[in-house]
Amino acid sequence: MPDQPRNLFKKCLEYTDPQEARAQGFYPYFRRIDDTYGNYVICEGKRKIMIGSNNYLGLAQDDRVIEAACAAVRKYGAGCTGSRLLNGNISLHEQLEEELAHFLQREAVILFSTGFFANQGAITTLLEEGDAVLCDRENHASIIDGCMFSPGKLIPFKHNSATSLANRLKRLPAEAGKLVVMDAVFSMSGDIADLPPIVKAAKAAGAFLHIDEAHSLGVLGPKGRGVVHHFGLNDDVDIIMGTFSKSLGSMGGFVAGSTELINFLRHRSRCLIFTASLAPAVVGGVLKALQLLQEEPERIEQLWKNTHKMHEGFKSLGFQIGSTETPIVPILIGSEARAFQFSQRLYEEGVFATPAVYPAVRYGQAIVRTSYMATHTEEDLDQVLEIFERVARELGTFDDPAYSPSNLRKNVLDFSLSQQDGFQPFREDAGNTSSHGPELRPSSSRGCGEIPQT
Ligand SMILES: Cc1ncc(COP(=O)(O)O)c(C=O)c1O
Repeated sequence: MPDQPRNLFKKCLEYTDPQEARAQGFYPYFRRIDDTYGNYVICEGKRKIMIGSNNYLGLAQDDRVIEAACAAVRKYGAGCTGSRLLNGNISLHEQLEEELAHFLQREAVILFSTGFFANQGAITTLLEEGDAVLCDRENHASIIDGCMFSPGKLIPFKHNSATSLANRLKRLPAEAGKLVVMDAVFSMSGDIADLPPIVKAAKAAGAFLHIDEAHSLGVLGPKGRGVVHHFGLNDDVDIIMGTFSKSLGSMGGFVAGSTELINFLRHRSRCLIFTASLAPAVVGGVLKALQLLQEEPERIEQLWKNTHKMHEGFKSLGFQIGSTETPIVPILIGSEARAFQFSQRLYEEGVFATPAVYPAVRYGQAIVRTSYMATHTEEDLDQVLEIFERVARELGTFDDPAYSPSNLRKNVLDFSLSQQDGFQPFREDAGNTSSHGPELRPSSSRGCGEIPQT
């Protein structure tokens, strides 16, 4: 009897985590939002304070941004129906590229349809066989995928460690092209890349640098130009990548760099050439948001006031928030089951925030990821703190093993895969990095199966 081909759909039939979580009342993903006001949303007819969004400056709901998006639709239509290279290049795309290049003090910019594609497009197009890409272990999934799809060798280094990076670089052949890739702000832990020593280590080895400003554009640096500018390193970093899906309130991404680099990506990047260009509504809205970001610095000031209030507020209540220095505030919960339960109770009490569990974070150190906006009011934030405190007492969060003194000493919010600084084949454990997906595991493994019954 010849071997039967493997049934590709078997795993789908066996994948019942979401159903199990739903049956137990703790499914935290794909929550339907029926109406949104930025700092709060309406779900199932009830108002929830939104602390799970990257809309840092509240520009996604700004009337002027919405009107600019509508005006672009009226002028250019609902979509461009083709790639920039062929029929999908409208004047708004070029205007946005010019304005971004000016804002970031770079020679040129190229837009991509998502931030994910911007990372993937730049990394895969640039690297060749024999090159090496050095990747912080906590980098975003789009960077990791870009590295894995590129012909270069993927070499992980310890999170935010210039020493680890320098050690890796030292062991590479001198002639190998080298690219160091890093998030400027890490999207789970909220910590800021320690760029000055990282840049120094890279330069000493003749490596180029690609920095992802997804969570720092509009948040850090003069006028919100990002972490590279915050550290005064604009002349030392070769590639800046960013998204429009966070502070600029929309979707899409870009890469900024030299004229030659951008010209090369424009004609060679598959992530750009083989996909439709950004819709007019998106580009029109982002152009207005970029203008408002520069004209209304009080938004960034307010974002930081809110951020500091929440850092202090959570800490004074006894929550562990790791090493965050930004509006991304991860709240340590502990067991995966409790994190699901915690976010469900938050939701019932009127707070919208989602959990991040293993493998996005270390096993047993699940978090509720929270993030703040300039448009949150004092009242919103006080209410969030009050509800977190109440739910934590109800669920015994501070008694979780993650909160035991011995675990806290181990830096419980260290999201890295390994404390060791030895080489590891990254491909084998890439799934363990901060991939940010709704990581429910098969019901036979740890996770949803442990969700306690109420
Ligand atoms: C650090 C980082 N880079 C890139 C991306 C991808 O951006 P986008 O959602 O705009 O595709 C994200 C999105 O979550 C991110 O957090």
